[in-house]
Amino acid sequence: MQRLVYLRRPSAAAALQERLVGVGFLRAACEDDVHGSRLVTWVRTSAEERVVRSILGEPDQRASERVDEDALNTWKVKVTVGTWILGPGVAAPRGAKTVVTMPVGAGFGLGDHPTTLLTARLLAEHGCAGARVLDLGCGSGVLAALAGKLGAAQIDAVDLDSDAVAHTRKTLKANKVEGKAWTSNLLKRVPGTYDLVCANLVGDLLVEFFGGGTLHRVLTPDGTAFLSGISDAKRPAVLKALAADGWQVTRRLKDDLWTGLAIQRRS
Ligand SMILES: C[S@@+](CC[C@H](N)C(=O)[O-])C[C@H]1O[C@@H](n2cnc3c(N)ncnc32)[C@H](O)[C@@H]1O
Repeated sequence: MQRLVYLRRPSAAAALQERLVGVGFLRAACEDDVHGSRLVTWVRTSAEERVVRSILGEPDQRASERVDEDALNTWKVKVTVGTWILGPGVAAPRGAKTVVTMPVGAGFGLGDHPTTLLTARLLAEHGCAGARVLDLGCGSGVLAALAGKLGAAQIDAVDLDSDAVAHTRKTLKANKVEGKAWTSNLLKRVPGTYDLVCANLVGDLLVEFFGGGTLHRVLTPDGTAFLSGISDAKRPAVLKALAADGWQVTRRLKDDLWTGLAIQRRS
């Protein structure tokens, strides 16, 4: 695996990180230190490197380096008390009750990106025992697997990308969670209705998503949707679009750059 580093102004680094996340590339982080701001990406394959270079151009050669893949597989993130998402092969921390372990080589999000974590936190706090859950833009399927571990009765997952769908099936199997995954452009090939929808998509897509009122079709009357991938720059547009489409914000979580929202129909 390679660590490609781009030195940028903080606002430019954040905008580029948002673009990468938008194409499903979640191994991108903004770092600040005494030398300034940088956007760091970790690429595993030449195809991934092409995606990053097509968006960001030539990396800073002095700061970029090859990294030990094993070291990158040993992360663990705490979602809420007792709930964890772990890198492959990481032992469950003491006191862990609900654990999702990502399989080796999971692309489309390992599960440790801030936007994933915001959605996971909203889902875990809300609870989903017995619920029908849709993971929209499932990536590696981490949220679908978490829903299963939290006791969801039905788990469906869709993504535009067929490789993401394949990864999701692998993640569900590795975590012994029953669920279905298929390709769909947003909700176009989603005929069912759900109590909970997780949508870790980027701001522009979320705005588009609220335009046609399609979420109303798939969410039960008192259902809840968890939205993430909302950068500070895109937040006003997303809030405006969802208010215009008849939704109210019931919970808001904030990370450095990103916001996660729980929304329900306005009563
Ligand atoms: C930010 S990633 C989230 C991945 C995963 N849910 C997570 O939280 O780690 C967004 C995902 O949405 C998918 N996506 C992008 N546009 C889409 C669309 N129009 N319809 C369905 N999925 C889409 C991408 O392929 C990517 O896997």
